[in-house]
Amino acid sequence: MIATSPFALATCQPGMERALKAEVARIRPDLHPGFQRPGLVTFKATRSPFRPDEAPASVFARLWAASAGPCLTADAVLATAADIGTVRLFLSARDVSPEDDHPHALRVAIQRDLSGWDRTLRPAFTGGAIQPGELVLDVLTWPGEAPVVGWHRHGPDRHAEPGGAIPVTVPAGAPSRGYRKIAEALRVFRPPLAQGDGVLELGSAPGGGTRAWLDAGCRVAAVDPQPLHADLRGAPGLKPIAARVGDLAPDSLPPGLKWVSCDAGITADDLVHALARLKPSLGAVKGWIVMLPVADDAAAKRLPATLQKLRKLGATHVVARQLPSNRGDVAVYATR
Ligand SMILES: C[S@@+](CC[C@H](N)C(=O)[O-])C[C@H]1O[C@@H](n2cnc3c(N)ncnc32)[C@H](O)[C@@H]1O
Repeated sequence: MIATSPFALATCQPGMERALKAEVARIRPDLHPGFQRPGLVTFKATRSPFRPDEAPASVFARLWAASAGPCLTADAVLATAADIGTVRLFLSARDVSPEDDHPHALRVAIQRDLSGWDRTLRPAFTGGAIQPGELVLDVLTWPGEAPVVGWHRHGPDRHAEPGGAIPVTVPAGAPSRGYRKIAEALRVFRPPLAQGDGVLELGSAPGGGTRAWLDAGCRVAAVDPQPLHADLRGAPGLKPIAARVGDLAPDSLPPGLKWVSCDAGITADDLVHALARLKPSLGAVKGWIVMLPVADDAAAKRLPATLQKLRKLGATHVVARQLPSNRGDVAVYATR
């Protein structure tokens, strides 16, 4: 039975491998980058072997696992499972970004490849809900490539689904992919929402995020100079405010707001500035869910300093994650 591995693996959004490696160099300098594929990086554990219960607190990693490396055949995957002593399987494509991020032909190829592995491997594993403490084999597939295999010890702070996917159902006709971003953030961060909580949403049009907050049972003050999608007109609990954030007077906001949400594509500095200016009207706010741009290396590097600025605004708990639906941004959850 193998308990640990000389290597770790992490998956991330394809294109963010450099940001992940820079982050790991900062938070876990003992992990040195090894081979990588788009959206997957392996690390050599130089201090002590990587344990399946380890999951460094990372913004960019979707999942962590002890790495067994690529397995060329199904037999090799099954032999690895036997060596590790697990009968539990997390099988997924290496990249679990929303389907519409991939061209149709690639989507079909991903699905066909995954189904083939599923047919071969699934019968050898035990189904049903995986319990905390169980070892799970992570098999990460991609068309035309040998799957990369790892394993982790399951627990509440680990990826809950194969590949680190976050299953949310986007209703037909949701005004934008902003719905999925907020729905994923609510699922991952689990803010303690109460029915009827007031949300100040900055940069709301066309209204995907607005719809997600309303569906979560909140009331929304939706700020944007652009109009919301017509389907949202007159929605119960919705107060559209046609303004730019910078033109918003603190006393124009509804009283008792509990949450601030922002997916406006504005810089972190502009957001922090706006929050500081509106602070007199945000006294009852419990927390923020904001999407911050990290499209270039410099913005990704500045992220720890940006999170520090949110702490200065009064946040005591700040966590950032690049969710599957994020593209050039990350989701930040801050509470006080
Ligand atoms: C990416 S879209 C937002 C998507 C939206 N959150 C959704 O879920 O559908 C960016 C929006 O931010 C708005 N925006 C950009 N800068 C803004 C500002 N300074 N104040 C208010 N809204 C702003 C734009 O008008 C645009 O509608």
